[in-house]
Amino acid sequence: MRIHKKNVHRLAAASAVAACLCVAVLIAQSSAPSSAPASVESIAIQVSRPGPAVPSTLFGLFFEDINFAADGGLYPELVKNRSFEFTEPLAGWSKSFASEGEMVALSEGGLNASNPHYLRLRSESPTGFAITNAGFRGMGVQAGAEYIFSAWVRVPGAAGPKTLRAALLAGAAGRGRGAAGGNIGEATLSGFSGQWKKYETVLKASATSPAARLQVTVPEAGAIDVDMVSLFPRDTWRNRPNGLRPDLVQLLADMKPGFLRFPGGCIVEGRRLALRYQWKKTVGDVSERRSIINRWNDENERVTPDYFQSFGLGFYEYFQLAEDLGATPVPILNCGMACQFNSGEMAPLDQLDEYIQDALDLIEFANGAVTTRWGALRARMGHPAPFNMKMIGIGNEQWGKAYVDRYKVFSAAIRARHPDIKLIGSAGPSASGTQFDYLWPQMREMKADLVDEHYYQPAQWFLDNSRRYDKYDRSGPKVFAGEYAARVAGNRNTWGAALAEAAYMTGLERNADVVHMASYAPLLAHVDAWQWAPNLIWFDNLRSFGTPSYHVQKLFATNLGTRLLPVTIGGSETNAHNGLYASASLLEKTGEVILKAVNPGEAGRKVAISLAGAAARGAARVLTLASSDLAAENSLDNPMNVAPVERSMAVSGTEVELTLPAHSLTVVRLPAR
Ligand code: AHR
Repeated sequence: MRIHKKNVHRLAAASAVAACLCVAVLIAQSSAPSSAPASVESIAIQVSRPGPAVPSTLFGLFFEDINFAADGGLYPELVKNRSFEFTEPLAGWSKSFASEGEMVALSEGGLNASNPHYLRLRSESPTGFAITNAGFRGMGVQAGAEYIFSAWVRVPGAAGPKTLRAALLAGAAGRGRGAAGGNIGEATLSGFSGQWKKYETVLKASATSPAARLQVTVPEAGAIDVDMVSLFPRDTWRNRPNGLRPDLVQLLADMKPGFLRFPGGCIVEGRRLALRYQWKKTVGDVSERRSIINRWNDENERVTPDYFQSFGLGFYEYFQLAEDLGATPVPILNCGMACQFNSGEMAPLDQLDEYIQDALDLIEFANGAVTTRWGALRARMGHPAPFNMKMIGIGNEQWGKAYVDRYKVFSAAIRARHPDIKLIGSAGPSASGTQFDYLWPQMREMKADLVDEHYYQPAQWFLDNSRRYDKYDRSGPKVFAGEYAARVAGNRNTWGAALAEAAYMTGLERNADVVHMASYAPLLAHVDAWQWAPNLIWFDNLRSFGTPSYHVQKLFATNLGTRLLPVTIGGSETNAHNGLYASASLLEKTGEVILKAVNPGEAGRKVAISLAGAAARGAARVLTLASSDLAAENSLDNPMNVAPVERSMAVSGTEVELTLPAHSLTVVRLPAR
């Protein structure tokens, strides 16, 4: 990662405004800086003409296991290749220096059919034999935190070692705070027999290290078999066992997302059908979930040979996460097609039964009674109540007639059994072109409920196309803008990219009668293990931050009314006019009128906001996201370089004047009657 610029000036401004908030309420007219231009643009909000309801799903999340988003990220297991099922079964593991013995991966008499390989450790010395696991670019551990060390263990001979010791070793000098290689916590397992059994104990870290390693020692001579060797933080989101990394989930929860789309992305499709995402192999006990190579292992910007999917974060965990976030779960399923950018392998049309059954069984897993086969599994996993799944995606970004043929078969089967489940079809991998033009009419004809559009475009495209949906047919399928991001040079997460997305999103909001769902993509990326950029949130083993695009998404999602309000800019009913972008909604339960206004220009713009059919009275909240530097970014060391600043503004009457700073997104929440 490039080191991001610090913006000391902006931080100082932020704290100054925060200080102001404590002592005073600003008066609307006083908000215009003296350098503001004299001409005033009008933004009129027709409060007396509330439009269609704003779908609660409008702004949500797209999750894909790309960039170490799951293993090494949201799923906080610290041991890489805990099950020895990587293509190279010893990947991630190494023999400790000066240790006498051997480690061999075997498969005879393994734990179960999904997890056949295990490790035989043979200590040839009475003083023991040790191996270490490198973790996911090291292991991030915190001083004082507890970690559950567990393993399935069996002693193959009549007699064998009686204990297994785990030790956390601090990271390399300069990275960890414990001495390099020093022991910063240990624990011991004991009581083994000739049968596989799971053992666990707790290890407490005495120091913080972002790049620790786990050492596993057989302390006496003899052989011992181990599998599912795990070091898992006790501190997870809502303390769930096999739970998720809290700081990352908190960033998601703070966005109040309307939906959670999972598990991808191309990962749904796989490079070949055998490597597609199969949800049934991701549920039940983690030791029975079959690992596969991650589709992003050797594709895109950076090759990542140690990228596999353990499925410790599987479909149960995705549904649980959606529920925790208050988001509608949106699973996307393989429709019998491998990634068309790769093999494009297809299941023959008359051999789709297995794929369709997966879809039907998923509905049962999510919504079925506990007396059904899959509903019972959900209950055994800890969630007897249904997950209340309402929609499902058929394929990811597939295209061509082959896709349409398969969509039809899926649609007929699901509609016959579950007419209440909404179906999402694909518009292909781009915002326009042959495939796009072919697929939309097909989707309309097949009565898809939503059509999933994907576009990664230059920032200028977003500025130029914010009225894209004005001309969409209101009577057909709704739009799911399922993957989008603005691109700038180097695919950096700059303020300039985020600002273009903000301008574009005023068009999404204005068209919320036809655009029912939208999500930025991809969501998460490890700073040392990414394949794709830009991304919404970046993290290392201990820290995380939201990009400027994250703050744009969050501002839009957390400041959303329940009814659309028509807006005119300079007298023209539109979201984009004369270099400004705006959208508005009414939050019926509080009576607030919420305006979003984007000024991408280089000078501040004075605007006169008028309310037709209502008057504002009281303290309005004004949230401003701005930077004079379009290249500004956030970083692990300066996570709030570009971040919203909030102030309060006294308002009274039907007109409010304010200045939209240069390069800014402003959200105004007006208490109105
Ligand atoms: O978001 C990254 C990838 O972009 C997704 O996997 C795919 O759907 C799209 O091509």
